[in-house]
Amino acid sequence: MSTPAPKGTGSITPADGATYARIMGVGGYRPERVVMNSEIIEAIDSSDEWIQERSGIKSRRFAAKDESVVDMSEHATREALTAAGLEASDVDAVVVATVTHPYQTPAAAPILADRFGIRGAAFDISAACAGYCHAISLASDMVRGGSARHVLVVGVEKLSDFTDPTDRGSAFIFGDGAGAAIVGPSDTPAIGPTVWGSDGSQWKTISQRDSWTEVRDGDLGWPAIGMAGQSVFRWAVWGMAPVAQKALDAAGVRAEDLDAFIPHQANMRIIDAMIKQLKLPADIPVARDIAETANTSAASIPLATERMLREGEIPHGALALQIGFGAGLVYAAQVVVLP
Ligand code: COA
Repeated sequence: MSTPAPKGTGSITPADGATYARIMGVGGYRPERVVMNSEIIEAIDSSDEWIQERSGIKSRRFAAKDESVVDMSEHATREALTAAGLEASDVDAVVVATVTHPYQTPAAAPILADRFGIRGAAFDISAACAGYCHAISLASDMVRGGSARHVLVVGVEKLSDFTDPTDRGSAFIFGDGAGAAIVGPSDTPAIGPTVWGSDGSQWKTISQRDSWTEVRDGDLGWPAIGMAGQSVFRWAVWGMAPVAQKALDAAGVRAEDLDAFIPHQANMRIIDAMIKQLKLPADIPVARDIAETANTSAASIPLATERMLREGEIPHGALALQIGFGAGLVYAAQVVVLP
């Protein structure tokens, strides 16, 4: 019996990607309403001093009732496009990192894309406070892999919708906001290798209290996000500095060569502990946006980045180490050249 003749050459035309990728522009959006600690403390029998001492947080922003994660993302996107010198029509993929878009489906990304007339790929990722660093990694790989040329990355949260204002362990931590970045092709390496991972055995340490089906079948009330603060604190302090160090090593960058350290804005004490463990030189600027913005999960790193650039704390083109970590538990870190 003769074997059938092949139908063609059998080879697939490879995708045509860029050699390197870079962040071309960033933008941020902070909702108008400033919420001081004094507004939070009564419901949790706390004090401004306790919150500042334990977390470094002085205030946060809360979005308006009718202001959605898509609305906030739209503002941040406009800024990022302007900063990148691009039009919306240049964007061919949209990745939104969020855990507070209140629809199980569809994702926020296609709705955001539609506001700009973008018809390219659009999807959300759920990696909590590490969402932005996950999305930067994906976007870089997409640009280099040839599946997109310009990717809009957004980290956005409306945590005020998913926080129990009477929960002592979390009510003071969270805030709302959006940060955006445009990732596109580059002539030189500008997004280092991502070091990332997970430990799902600890999924309960930061989690929506009950699943949607438990809420449907029980008398449980709104399923706000709960947190085992001390466990998260220990994991972050002891587990994340080695991850940050690995990201430096993978990029071939020494701590003393950095122009900025932009960790997830989880807790000022966690940030201070990481600086110590990484033995960062004292003169390297460190993001401390948490004081006025609190913990905005996926939005925290791009918001902190946007602030440091806008306020001239770091120059454009700065070499920055960024690391996100949170619910999952999951983490991701990389060295980037800022736009
Ligand atoms: N206000 C005032 N007192 C409070 C309080 C509050 N909101 N919450 C707890 N306390 C009290 C406790 O009752 C306890 O009192 P006691 O010593 O008399 O028993 C004391 O403060 C210490 O409580 P503890 O839960 O051990 O606080 P902590 O030092 O661990 O700080 C967090 C709490 C939440 C600030 C801290 O655990 C934290 O930041 N964890 C990480 C959170 C985080 O980063 N999450 C995001 C990750 S993405």
